[in-house]
Amino acid sequence: MSNIFKIAVLPGDGIGPEVMKQAIKVLEKIQKYIKKKIIIDTYYIGGSAINKFDDPLPKITLNGCEKSDAILLGSVGGPEWDYLPLNKRPEKGSLLKLRKYFNLFVNLRPSFCYKNLSILSPLKEKILNKGFNIICIRELIGGIYFGLNGRKGNGKNEYAFDTETYSRFEIERIAHIAFNIALKRKKKICSIDKANVLQTSILWREVVTEISKKYKSVKLQHMYIDNAVMQLIKNPSQFDVILCPNLFGDIISDQCAVITGSIGNLPSASFNQNYFGLYEPAGGSAPDIAGKNIANPIAQILSLAMLIKFSLKEEKIYIKIKNAIQKILNLGYRTKDLSINNSKEKIVTTDDIGTLIIESI
Ligand code: IPM
Ligand code: MN
Repeated sequence: MSNIFKIAVLPGDGIGPEVMKQAIKVLEKIQKYIKKKIIIDTYYIGGSAINKFDDPLPKITLNGCEKSDAILLGSVGGPEWDYLPLNKRPEKGSLLKLRKYFNLFVNLRPSFCYKNLSILSPLKEKILNKGFNIICIRELIGGIYFGLNGRKGNGKNEYAFDTETYSRFEIERIAHIAFNIALKRKKKICSIDKANVLQTSILWREVVTEISKKYKSVKLQHMYIDNAVMQLIKNPSQFDVILCPNLFGDIISDQCAVITGSIGNLPSASFNQNYFGLYEPAGGSAPDIAGKNIANPIAQILSLAMLIKFSLKEEKIYIKIKNAIQKILNLGYRTKDLSINNSKEKIVTTDDIGTLIIESI
């Protein structure tokens, strides 16, 4: 086995480059604790790649990712590119393409409450007091995101369509992942669907139930998406593993993120069958606060931490980084986007948060 570990770094658009800079600082700091020598190569993606190469996912970027052992992504998209046709826009033209290209069908979005950030959560204290620790497992390369779509007709008869398809195979493979994760946690899964209306959901529910028979010690519950989003704000502590089709996972993972206090805290990891991984914050490119050195880099740094845990298999370093983040939050440090004008908070820049975290590692 090679002693070199290559990471393709794709900072992207909006706040991507400035939060990525902090993750790279962390990476440089922890290199000495890691057995393998890490080499990073940076590539353009999304809007910044459109500006430079007229292509949101240039060949050079794709080749770079192929040669790497893992991908660390910032975020893509922004109003500058919203005029483009859907397939050329950063979201579909780069991010979704990249996920599909590497067959990244598993998406993990862990959501837990940082002690001193709960004050930022939109949830009431009596709800938060019960705590929560959820992992949202989202099917990432199927469903309505990748089905047949288009626009047809003219005038008043013009119409648009998106179609959702799920095969038994696609549901089975993500269900197996979810059950195996549940075995290592509280041994319960809540599977999300809309089986009172959608055919794909009926199949989803059937297949997940079938797979559950192979995991007798895991308790399976099914929940309609409309009920699930309500339950998640009423009593998040009831959930542990949430298993979702692509679109429902997109929606519910943002909700999982914001109840922790900020969408800027949530990392994510995506894998294929060989556990090749892409790591990215669950939030977006936040163009409104980009370039001001005020964005919260925690989700990006945690995405790097997930890379270290899952792709480099250095769980202790992952914990070191997580603890360092909790430590600086305990001291009251946060970026302006997290400020609630509390007298105990110390508002610092994106760059300062990065530095404070590496000093605490
Ligand atoms: C996410 C994002 C993406 C998605 C967008 C940017 C295409 O919202 O990772 O959750 O919908 O998957
Ligand atoms: Mn999303």
